[in-house]
Amino acid sequence: MSKPMLVCVDDYEQYAREYLDRRSLVYFISGADEEVTLKENRQAFKNWKIKPEVLRDVSKRDLSTSLLGQHVDFPICIAPSGSHCLACHEGELATVKAAATMKTCMVLSTYSTKSMEEVSQAAPNCLRWFQLYVWRPRTIPENLVRRAEAAGFKALVLTVDLPVTGKRRTECYAGGFYMPPHLQLPHLPQHFKDQDVELEYGAPKGMVDASLTWECIEWLKSITNLPIILKGILTPEDALLAVQHKVAGIVVSNHGGRQLDYVPATIEALPKIVEAVKGQIEVYMDGGVRTGTDVFKALALGAKAVFVGRPIIYGLSYAGEEGARQVLQILRDELSLTMALSGCSKINDIKPQYVVHQSHFAKL
Ligand code: FNR
Repeated sequence: MSKPMLVCVDDYEQYAREYLDRRSLVYFISGADEEVTLKENRQAFKNWKIKPEVLRDVSKRDLSTSLLGQHVDFPICIAPSGSHCLACHEGELATVKAAATMKTCMVLSTYSTKSMEEVSQAAPNCLRWFQLYVWRPRTIPENLVRRAEAAGFKALVLTVDLPVTGKRRTECYAGGFYMPPHLQLPHLPQHFKDQDVELEYGAPKGMVDASLTWECIEWLKSITNLPIILKGILTPEDALLAVQHKVAGIVVSNHGGRQLDYVPATIEALPKIVEAVKGQIEVYMDGGVRTGTDVFKALALGAKAVFVGRPIIYGLSYAGEEGARQVLQILRDELSLTMALSGCSKINDIKPQYVVHQSHFAKL
């Protein structure tokens, strides 16, 4: 049977919802508690309108940009998410090859189902960052950092919004997270594997050090020279603390609505954070990005790049590496189209003047 024609990211989601096994699907799509933030991540994008400028020369468009000085062909990168082997046989190897072909950056999750060394080997030239959780004792993350350095990862993405795992009701109703016996989490230390770890919402229960404070950044800096990016910042106050602690960048993120419910949609949180940071460090965002217009809005509001989580998983479930590549290509093409229709020919042209919150129209 030939596969359906898919033209936008939502079509890939539809496909995944129909064809993925229920347990995996629930793990991928679920959000915390009432899933208010999960829905608002999408909804909030619709509250921002684009103000196009006409009669600009948009015959040639350059979407390329840089992340911490490293070139990417377009500012849409792959957010870290666990267990890609639940979506397709090749798992994270498919993901990294898609990122390499499209010349963008992939962040590999600590909870990947392929090891960082295998991922590096599959696409040595791809820009790869490693996402880190600080597990106890610290010799475990220290060892992961050493491996990431040796495997050619160019930055560490420290996820700071998961001292404990959020409660995902849909996962509970489905009987909890289920990792098929033929799959494993290769970054888990051996003794956890031997003990048959209890997984809670897809993450090993109680492994992350919930006593972590801003001190951990000094510790991380003392063991590595890799740039550090904090993922999961939602307030200008925390963004300023990140600046004070001299990290290289932050990701405005609410973990795709999977952690604390009722936190703001990331596109709503972004502008005040950008204002506070004043260009001192790079600011990225993720959460609910599904179209080129979403990407355009995020860039206009000051994000240097966006990351996508679930869209990649939907692509993997459709056609492995090729499916993930298609999703990236669609987003890239849609961004290029949005730029042309708005009067922008390069990424730096996308400025705050191109977007307006719809509450502005109510005041008129
Ligand atoms: C995630 N996310 C995540 N983040 C992280 O730092 N480490 C991780 O291991 C995971 N795992 C994970 C699994 C699944 C199934 C999802 C959906 C998400 C969060 C992820 O990096 C990102 O913040 C969100 O996915 C962005 O939202 P969208 O693009 O999925 O709407």
